[in-house]
Amino acid sequence: QINLKGRDFLELDDYSTEEIQYLIDLAIEIKRKHKNGEAYQPLKGKTLGLIFEKSSTRTRVSFEVGMYQLGGHALFLSKNDIQLGRGEPISDMAQVMSRYLDGIMIRTFGHDNVVELAHYASVPVINGLSDLAHPCQVLADYQTLYEQKGKLKGLKLAYIGDGNNMAHSLLIGGAKLGVHVSIASPAGYEPDPSVVAACREIAKQTGSEIVITQSPQEAVKGADAIYTDVWASMGFEEEQKERELAFADFQVNEELVQLAKPDYLFLHCLPAHRGEEVSAGVIDGPNSVIFDEAENRLHAQKALLVALLG
Ligand code: CP
Ligand code: NVA
Repeated sequence: QINLKGRDFLELDDYSTEEIQYLIDLAIEIKRKHKNGEAYQPLKGKTLGLIFEKSSTRTRVSFEVGMYQLGGHALFLSKNDIQLGRGEPISDMAQVMSRYLDGIMIRTFGHDNVVELAHYASVPVINGLSDLAHPCQVLADYQTLYEQKGKLKGLKLAYIGDGNNMAHSLLIGGAKLGVHVSIASPAGYEPDPSVVAACREIAKQTGSEIVITQSPQEAVKGADAIYTDVWASMGFEEEQKERELAFADFQVNEELVQLAKPDYLFLHCLPAHRGEEVSAGVIDGPNSVIFDEAENRLHAQKALLVALLG
């Protein structure tokens, strides 16, 4: 019997394989209800605060809409409009907000901010993206893959590009779910070695194979899914020019995808830069499921909110 009530959601390594699969199954069930127009409002009277220190389209809209659809209410709290932006300590903010809210989502820079908020808050804290991890996105990503392929265990996912928050969360999620994950990054932009080491340990239990390479071709060979992300994440904009040089051979384009399975799926967390990390032909082509994936942010987060706050 799986019960996630009251838990934080900071990164997928805190969750077991069964708990992650439970969240995916719940998201699919909530999606079905929504498509059928069935009323489902288990969060009546509940409130969620959304703290943003970085920009967002999908995360903000899907959390706000998701809370509304579940019968609750969400508050958008931009860093510059709350006292956090003027230096109020996270520890004070966490304790104050816990007196008003039933849950807090935060999008920030250092992952230590998320951990500190969770430490001092007495309500569930959800990581809406940190420099280390983006677990909400990855719930939607593996849900999308599961819906499209009918299974997860044994699939091969290739991630081409920066060893960033997306790479880390896809690695951990893949390792937990038995997905083989191959990451191809240029030298100097590999995923965090401690995350990779932790994933290799998890993978021993689940049969997942983790490959870290500098060859996009090796990573993509025989892949069921190809994933990429921007070369310069939020907070790294000033490195754009040097990153364009470093990542020049890491574009997901028509030539590279030839090496994947013919029915491969293309995924991207979005926002995307056509002509940089991915060609327009691939992201707008027949194998791309980016908009199903973006839609699933709503369903996946509703499942998470019901599980944590319900
Ligand atoms: N993928 C994602 O998190 O998008 P936003 O930055 O628009 O929220
Ligand atoms: N890696 C990107 C993901 C955006 C959703 C960033 O952190 O900016």
